Amino acid sequence: MEPKLRLMIVDDELIVRESLLNWLRKYGHEVDTAASGSEALEKIEQKPFQLLFVDIKMPGMDGLELLERVKKEYPDTLVVIITAHGSIESAARAMRAGASDYLMKPFKPDQLSLVMERIFNQQKITSDYRYVKGCLDQITRFDNIIGQSPPMEKLYALILEVAQSDASVLITGETGTGKELVAKAIHAKSPRAQLPFVAINCGALPDALMESELFGHRKGSFTGAEHSRKGFLEVVSGGTLFLDEIGDISAKMQVDLLRVLEDKTIFSVGSKTPVKVDFRLISATRKDLEKCIEEGSFREDFFYRINVIIIHLPSLRERKGDIPLLVDHFMAKYSHETTKHVDRIKPDALSLLNAYNWPGNVRELENAVERAVVLSKSRTLDARDFSFLKPAHAAPSSPQTLKAVQESHILRILDEQDWQITRSAEILGINRVTLHKIIKRNNFSKGT
Ligand SMILES: Nc1ncnc2c1ncn2[C@@H]1O[C@H](COP(=O)(O)OP(=O)(O)OP(=O)(O)O)[C@@H](O)[C@H]1O
Ligand SMILES: [Mg+2]
Repeated sequence: MEPKLRLMIVDDELIVRESLLNWLRKYGHEVDTAASGSEALEKIEQKPFQLLFVDIKMPGMDGLELLERVKKEYPDTLVVIITAHGSIESAARAMRAGASDYLMKPFKPDQLSLVMERIFNQQKITSDYRYVKGCLDQITRFDNIIGQSPPMEKLYALILEVAQSDASVLITGETGTGKELVAKAIHAKSPRAQLPFVAINCGALPDALMESELFGHRKGSFTGAEHSRKGFLEVVSGGTLFLDEIGDISAKMQVDLLRVLEDKTIFSVGSKTPVKVDFRLISATRKDLEKCIEEGSFREDFFYRINVIIIHLPSLRERKGDIPLLVDHFMAKYSHETTKHVDRIKPDALSLLNAYNWPGNVRELENAVERAVVLSKSRTLDARDFSFLKPAHAAPSSPQTLKAVQESHILRILDEQDWQITRSAEILGINRVTLHKIIKRNNFSKGT
């Protein structure tokens, strides 16, 4: 079956537009029309089309010029040229300039079908198709982990290797670098893949709750325990246990878990019967655990138990080469979710993203692209779509003047203090009136 496409007919004659429109719609395609080259370009800037039918002779921008512009700016878009009968020369010129085929006026529906068929046979690759295929490749490879930079290639190799063993893994890295994603990928590539993956956020649970979540409890073992319940250590039954934010775990819980890792048996709360457990442990933390050991908040023996293998995830700053790939991925993801068509990004926007420091790493980039896609009025993102990125984190690309540093420092403090003038002035060590004057002189406002 032929795929359904987004098509546009560009012709200054209404009758041609309408007859083509009716035929093409019969095949179930989504069809739009434009009466001139410039109208067509405006529409392409709004959303992508896979195929254009373009009349050669039009007032203003003619079909050949439109063809050239489309091929230059949107090389994925195919163009079929419509020429008057007898002007085979201009048809040939159009083919040389990159047209996929041509139609001679007047033409019949079966000639149109023939052209469509030829195009499908020639090249099925539309940008949508490429996107879907790209996603599939990524998914089958590594659970949606995007990146081709050298540190990421090393990471993929490590994931595959680690997945085959049963050793405890500790994943470290700044916030938003993909620790949870990597934990899931290890599980998915491991022999335990068909068994449960159970994730617990150690930072979010108070001790007593964590204990009953992990070990389970007997009916009546504490007030409110109306039924007996199995703990996650039992529920995981042969799968992978993911302890997220392990740096936040209490001293008592460290001891309890250490014992489980040594004995592979547990007692549920209120019970004296030991239960055998089997799981592979993956933990993650943003904290520097060795420092926590020095400070006395983390047990050294527990640390050695959980970090038989350490995987450190690179920050986004260390793999900026992956930014375009990540941006493409997130544009496609959020275009799909919002049913908008945002699939292009201008070089000025990319260089802005490249200059930024990304303290929140991939999560922050994902949120930034989502926000830009949601607010964008066209299919192309430019630097203005990312103006909300705080200048404080923008890495200076060239030496800055003292005045510029001063201004960006003041802006950063204002942003951090949510534009509370008194507090900001206090932190900056100047009085409110001076701060007001600076704001006014520089035209600062929220979101500058
Ligand atoms: N390499 C990547 N490719 C695609 N998406 C990614 C990548 N790394 C992270 N993400 C996305 O960024 C977000 C944060 O990832 P994740 O939750 O795994 O980070 P984390 O390291 O656990 O962060 P935190 O320490 O804050 O919990 C998720 O939406 C995830 O899908
Ligand atoms: Mg996490």
